[in-house]
Amino acid sequence: MPASADRTDLLRQIETLKEQLTQAQKLTALGELVSTTTHEFNNVLTTIINYAKLGLRHKDAETREKAFDKILAASNRAAKITNSVLGMARNRSAQQEPTNLTQLIEDTLVLLEREMNKYRIAVDKSFQPIPPAMINGNQIQQVLLNLLINARQAMPGGGRIMIRLAYDAEADTVDLTVRDTGSGIPPEVLPRIFDPFFSTKKGPDASGKGGTGLGLSTCRDIIEAHRGRIRVESTLGKGTAFTLKLPAAAKPAARPPLAPPLTLPSVAAAPAL
Ligand SMILES: Nc1ncnc2c1ncn2[C@@H]1O[C@H](COP(=O)(O)OP(=O)(O)OP(=O)(O)O)[C@@H](O)[C@H]1O
Ligand SMILES: [Mg+2]
Repeated sequence: MPASADRTDLLRQIETLKEQLTQAQKLTALGELVSTTTHEFNNVLTTIINYAKLGLRHKDAETREKAFDKILAASNRAAKITNSVLGMARNRSAQQEPTNLTQLIEDTLVLLEREMNKYRIAVDKSFQPIPPAMINGNQIQQVLLNLLINARQAMPGGGRIMIRLAYDAEADTVDLTVRDTGSGIPPEVLPRIFDPFFSTKKGPDASGKGGTGLGLSTCRDIIEAHRGRIRVESTLGKGTAFTLKLPAAAKPAARPPLAPPLTLPSVAAAPAL
């Protein structure tokens, strides 16, 4: 076989492998999402069941009122969880469309609330007014989950995650930063973190997450498909910040001024259907 055919064949095989990698990461992300959501939901149901039992056991008004309050709060949380999952399911399209990133972040945090509490991680938000971003919501949510779980794993003893949203008027991008107060990344490791299968983790943690080394390589692929940028800054022992620069959705074209109202002869109201 001529060398060029060999090369074409090899390139084709690499392409197929890359597609399989993307598919594998999608499935891992979906698996993590399903397991996180199920745990969250189960936790809320346990609260509801326990307070319903308490209310049945104790006849005094005070205990019953407390039980109802707790049941109501937990049910509201359950509704929030299902709403955020339904939101994701609705947004299945493979398209990039004007999307409210603030809402997307809130929906993602609902799912990670329990996990962050368990690992004693405080989440701070600093959201400036931003225009909608031109993104595929599901894919950017996958990126956000990867970044947040990496941040959590870099702080085994607890810590702080800061999520910042701002508009860069000059570049016309919506910038999303996830900063942690974790271990930081050694300078010699930093150039490799986006390589497929590069991981310093010894396998999945106690929550079954991490260790394949596909997280950041998928994040980079997704951001490149959006014609965006992903940047990282890290200081050993202090923490790490990842910034996504995503294109803002084009503003609706300035509309021509409305025409003056026409005076039409009055017509009989149409019968109601
Ligand atoms: N916030 C962070 N703080 C410290 N190190 C990080 C952080 N994010 C990523 N890293 C480093 O980059 C490596 C690659 O990250 P990546 O998300 O690609 O893989 P992973 O988390 O090891 O496995 P997974 O594929 O399950 O996400 C990590 O193993 C870790 O060494
Ligand atoms: Mg990861």
